[in-house]
Amino acid sequence: MSVVEDHDMGGNSISFLEVDGFRYPLVDPETIKGLPQMKVKDDDIFLLAYPKSGTHWLWEVTSMLLQGSANAIPHSKSELMVEFRTQEVIDAFPASPRVLNTHVRYNQLPLQAREKKCRLIYLLRNPKDVALSYYHHHRSFKKVYGGYSGSFNDYLPFFLAGKTDYGSWFDSVLQWEEDIKIQRDRHPIHIMSYEDMKQSPVEEIRKLAGFLGVPGDDSLYNAVADKCSFEDMKKEKEPHEPKFVYRKGEVGDWQNWLTPDQNEIFDKLFHENMKDSKFKDNIRFTLP
Ligand code: A3P
Repeated sequence: MSVVEDHDMGGNSISFLEVDGFRYPLVDPETIKGLPQMKVKDDDIFLLAYPKSGTHWLWEVTSMLLQGSANAIPHSKSELMVEFRTQEVIDAFPASPRVLNTHVRYNQLPLQAREKKCRLIYLLRNPKDVALSYYHHHRSFKKVYGGYSGSFNDYLPFFLAGKTDYGSWFDSVLQWEEDIKIQRDRHPIHIMSYEDMKQSPVEEIRKLAGFLGVPGDDSLYNAVADKCSFEDMKKEKEPHEPKFVYRKGEVGDWQNWLTPDQNEIFDKLFHENMKDSKFKDNIRFTLP
């Protein structure tokens, strides 16, 4: 377990916590060490995603469905982020069932989550938008990454090489796909994508409510979709979450950032890595 300082292609410094060869943000190492032993409840729900896939958004939607009303949740999803919070903090959270959330892989989840076959929600997002969003995250979260200040051109190869916290997007998503295939008959699992949520929020919220087994009707699903719109969440969550979490909230902003050459490199890597993946159909990698 150590703090590692790495450098992007332009030599700009960025720091992480490394535990068993896996990179995390610079958080409390003891909490990460304790993660396998964390106690969870039978009805806990785990929201799982690579960083910047829209976790805050889906956490809010899921939490509203569970509370049965479209009132903003007066907390941050990070209060239930299992790799950052101690057992005491998580156990003090008022809601039940709880929407625990994490960016780690299946084999890093609390052992009890695996034994108790907790419900899992897995969220995907187009990796080009993830790369761009993660770039802004790494630049904005000064305290957590040692004051990173590189350009997007210098950052992108670093991201594509899988050197950020939580590792390569490709490794993470492909590992989850494999584990979901294996665990499908044990855990109830629901797969969603950022792009589908943007395109048809009410339909996606209806399907999610069905998975959660909560009562609801179209007026609730419409209200949840409205209250969880980017603009509403940006306003409502301001007391609880850093502003930079709500950056742009769009599909395809990468088109404003990637050069044709960068885009070609990304496409090539995507097609090489994802050629046997069924998840590519969920991501809508190519824009219409
Ligand atoms: P952008 O940086 O592309 O704007 P996460 O919650 O996993 O950290 O993901 C953050 C991304 O989700 C950011 O993407 C953020 O703007 C976007 N996001 C947050 N709330 C959203 C919402 N209500 N609707 C759409 N996108 C949202």
